[in-house]
Amino acid sequence: MPGQSRCTAILADRLPIGESPHWLYYVDVVLATDRGDGTDQLPAPSAAQLHDPILLDEIHVWRASLERPGADVERLRLLLAADEQQRADRFRFDRDRCRYIVGRAQLRVLLGRYLGLVPEQVRFEYGAFEKPRLAHPGPSFNLTHSGPVALYAFTAAGEIGVDVELDDADFAKERIAERFFSAAEVAVLRSLPERLQARAFLTCWTRKEAFIKARGDGLSLALDSFDVSLEPGAPAALLRTAWSTEETRKWYIEDLSDPDAGYVAAMALSGNARRVVKRDLF
Ligand SMILES: CC(C)(COP(=O)(O)OP(=O)(O)OC[C@H]1O[C@@H](n2cnc3c(N)ncnc32)[C@H](O)[C@@H]1OP(=O)(O)O)[C@@H](O)C(=O)NCCC(=O)NCCS
Repeated sequence: MPGQSRCTAILADRLPIGESPHWLYYVDVVLATDRGDGTDQLPAPSAAQLHDPILLDEIHVWRASLERPGADVERLRLLLAADEQQRADRFRFDRDRCRYIVGRAQLRVLLGRYLGLVPEQVRFEYGAFEKPRLAHPGPSFNLTHSGPVALYAFTAAGEIGVDVELDDADFAKERIAERFFSAAEVAVLRSLPERLQARAFLTCWTRKEAFIKARGDGLSLALDSFDVSLEPGAPAALLRTAWSTEETRKWYIEDLSDPDAGYVAAMALSGNARRVVKRDLF
């Protein structure tokens, strides 16, 4: 098939084909959609190309590394839209530039996988506070990164936010709880034995960030205008908001921390999905 060889050539030029099932999937999708007529206009995805649907009760959480060899980063850069490439070029430090490129390219690959599109075809638009969302029908998603770790969350139901922080006691020390947390949260934090406070700080921080990220408010929403749970062992929850007594019923918070991998993380969701499907990208 002429289309197959053309696509394979294009991909061989761009991506480390065969390195993982993930890249093979990408090849699969392109081969399935390319008509081999010399155009780059791909048809809309058929149901068969939606290889990996998200069921209504599911939240898919992917974990990935942002560290990749320089040659891969340059290839992955080609998957980004012009505005993303320009943003990448504005980073002062090369390490941040590379992590941004890898983070966005992986987001495009994962969304492409759900949508039956090649990564370059995924189009984003942005909310008032820069939350990215799809410019065409598809799942809600959010991504977060800390150091080399990235988490991506996808759901077919409701708004989603995710936040990760490396489990770093200095991060907690540098950020004064009294400046960011509500009075109720500060009281709980300070009632804990000192050795548990750094971790509880990060637990509170990531739950709060996941909530504002799900809402898309950015830091326009005062962090002390709502309370989350933070006591060790307490279920993750939104406990109170200053603006509505109904709000806590609407939101589901889940802890996604992985102590072995050295990070604290949380997810917030406004929909009814509860089954978290965790996957590693590589
Ligand atoms: C949302 C926010 C709190 C996250 O900050 P953070 O904890 O340092 O970063 P994270 O790694 O957890 O998340 C970053 C990712 O969240 C997404 N994101 C960006 N803005 C977002 C928002 N408002 N809501 C949800 N997600 C957002 C992006 O995908 C971003 O990654 P990318 O830039 O590599 O694509 C911060 O970016 C913020 O406050 N943004 C709002 C900026 C703003 O108010 N601008 C107004 C201009 S008028």
